[in-house]
Amino acid sequence: MSLPNFLAPAVPPSRQPVPRRGRTSLRRLWPSDTPAVRAFFLRLDSETRASRFMAAVGDRMAADYAERVTVMSGMVVGIFVGDTLRALGELRPLGPGPSGVRRAEVALTVEPGFRRAGLGALLLRRLVEAARNRGIAELCLRCLPHNVAMRRLIMGFGAQMRLEEGESEGTIRLARATPLSLWQEGVEAALDFQLAVAALPLSIKLPRAA
Ligand SMILES: CC(C)(COP(=O)(O)OP(=O)(O)OC[C@H]1O[C@@H](n2cnc3c(N)ncnc32)[C@H](O)[C@@H]1OP(=O)(O)O)[C@@H](O)C(=O)NCCC(=O)NCCS
Repeated sequence: MSLPNFLAPAVPPSRQPVPRRGRTSLRRLWPSDTPAVRAFFLRLDSETRASRFMAAVGDRMAADYAERVTVMSGMVVGIFVGDTLRALGELRPLGPGPSGVRRAEVALTVEPGFRRAGLGALLLRRLVEAARNRGIAELCLRCLPHNVAMRRLIMGFGAQMRLEEGESEGTIRLARATPLSLWQEGVEAALDFQLAVAALPLSIKLPRAA
């Protein structure tokens, strides 16, 4: 999905404009994106990794995780600035909650230097829409209690926060899917496909139609 040029004019004073190094696009990530995902996780500093995984994560663990990101169940979306992946959001299914409703968990990571420009909110909006269209009623988002950025971001989406066992947990209750929300995701999926195909290495050939 090609994004409006939100990075250029009229940036509120609280926001840092993302360095303009090319076109910005948000799309679903696939196993063919694993090299970009791996490079993304390996570029992250230890503080960012600790915030994302709520534990110390070295290069080896980060690289191992990157290999599995797009093949684990759920959905992964990324934002590219130019040709480089700079932000990544994950939607993972969870077991039903105490009330029996369908739940999923979201994790977000925006590379330092690309924050406070709305990328985290864009990822979350896309994952909220995808979860809603899959019949998820509750989205859970966990972070360290001192993670002001994540807490403020998800509270902007109406999350109810609670502190549990040294973690902050936010819950966003989702509305039911509508024909419009399904159509909107369908259009984005078609664009995702075009962008993902365009990003494939030239040596990979698509199968011919039978
Ligand atoms: C949390 C994170 C994803 C936010 O990404 P981001 O792209 O900077 O977020 P956005 O620019 O979309 O910000 C949306 C809102 O979040 C809040 N926010 C973001 N960063 C903030 C900060 N450092 N301090 C206070 N509020 C902040 C603001 O309300 C902001 O709106 P505003 O810019 O209009 O004030 C990013 O800081 C990050 O990747 N952190 C490390 C990984 C992590 O902690 N993940 C969470 C656990 S899974």
